[in-house]
Amino acid sequence: MNLFDVYPLYDLNPVSAQGCTITDDKGVEYLDLYGGHAVISVGHSHPHYMQRIGDQLKKIGFYSNSVQNPMQAELAKKLGELSGYQDYNLFLCNSGAEANENALKLASFITGKKRIVAFEKSFHGRTSAAVAVTDNPKIIAPINDVHDRVILPLNNMDALQKALSTGEVAAVLIEGIQGVGGCRVPSPDFMQAASRLCKEMNVLFILDEIQSGYGRSGKFFAHQYAGIQPDVITVAKGMGNGFPIGGVLVAPDYKPWHGMLGTTFGGNYLACAAGLAVLEIMELEHLVENAYTVGGFMIKELTTFSQIKEVRGKGLMIGLEFDEPVVALRKKLLFEEKIFTGVTGTHVIRILPPLSLSQKEASRFLETFSRVLKNM
Ligand SMILES: Cc1ncc(COP(=O)(O)O)c(C=O)c1O
Repeated sequence: MNLFDVYPLYDLNPVSAQGCTITDDKGVEYLDLYGGHAVISVGHSHPHYMQRIGDQLKKIGFYSNSVQNPMQAELAKKLGELSGYQDYNLFLCNSGAEANENALKLASFITGKKRIVAFEKSFHGRTSAAVAVTDNPKIIAPINDVHDRVILPLNNMDALQKALSTGEVAAVLIEGIQGVGGCRVPSPDFMQAASRLCKEMNVLFILDEIQSGYGRSGKFFAHQYAGIQPDVITVAKGMGNGFPIGGVLVAPDYKPWHGMLGTTFGGNYLACAAGLAVLEIMELEHLVENAYTVGGFMIKELTTFSQIKEVRGKGLMIGLEFDEPVVALRKKLLFEEKIFTGVTGTHVIRILPPLSLSQKEASRFLETFSRVLKNM
C-alpha cells in the first residue's frame, strides 16, 4: 500500500529532537522556528513530558469515557488556573477541527440556530462545519458546502452588526490571531465591540485559540490582549506538545446534558498526562512570559529589517510579509542555514517556534536572517 499523497513534502527526515533543535537521519541539526506548525509548546523531548507520559503508559493508557478518570478533572483545574478561566468547563477531544466542530455544535444546540459568522482568511480545520467556515473554497467539498455561513471582512463592525441583525446567527467564530491567514491580529476594539454585540444578540462568541492559544502570543490566550471573555474557547496544538489532544472551554452559563457531545479517544489517560505535563512545564519554566519577552524582542528587531514589508503577530506567533515570493528564501533558510520556518501562501514567512526559544537562539536566527536577506 502507498500513502495517499496529499502533502507536499520537503526532503528531510527528522529522527530526533531536543528543545528547539531537530536532528535529521544524516545527523544534521536544524533550529526549529516552525514547531511542527505551532504545535511544540514546551520544547521537543522535554524530560518531564517524556517521564509523565511514560509513567502513565506503564499504569493504564486507555479506557472509555464511561468510567471515572480523575486526570481529566486535574487537567481542567490546571488549565483553568493557568488561563484565568477557573469557572469554565472543559470538553476534551483530539484535534483542533474536532474542537471547533464541537464548539459550533454546542452553539447550535444552545441557540437553536444554524448560521455561523466567520472571517476572511480564516482557517478552522477540515471537518464539515469547521471547513465550511474556513475561508478557502479549494478545501470545501460539496458535502461540506451545506452549512449556513457568512464570511465577513476582519475588523469590520458594520458588517458584523448587519449580519447579526438578521437574528439568525448561532455563533461568531474568530481566531485569537489568524494563523493560516498569516498572523493577522484582530483589533482589540473590534474584539471588544464584537463580544458586546454577541452578548446583546444572544449569539455565542467563540474564540479559536487552537494556534494562538497556550501561551504562543505571550499571554495564555491571544484574546486576553483585548480584555474580553468569550463564551467558548477552542484549543489544541500546543496543548499536547505533539500528543493529539484538543479541548472546548465553555462558559459556566451553558449547561451540558448527557450525550450532548462525545468522543472515543478524547481525554484518555495518555492525552491527559501529556496535557498536564505541558501545563506543569509552562508554569515552572514561565514559558508564557518567555514567549512574550523573546517574541517581543524578535518582533522589535524584525521591524527594522527594510526587506520585510510588514511584521505581524504577537509573542512567538510572527508573520513576515514580503513583496516577493518567499519560496526560495524559506528553502535557503532550511537547507543552507538549517533553520526551519513556516509559510503562509506565497509571500509570508511564519515564525512559530517552541515557547522555550531562548534569547540566544532568537539572536542566532536574527543574525542569519539579516545576512541571508542581504544576499538574496
Ligand atoms: C486556528 C486553527 N484552527 C483549527 C485548526 C485545525 O486544527 P487540526 O489540524 O488539529 O484539526 C488549525 C490548524 O492549523 C488552526 O490553525
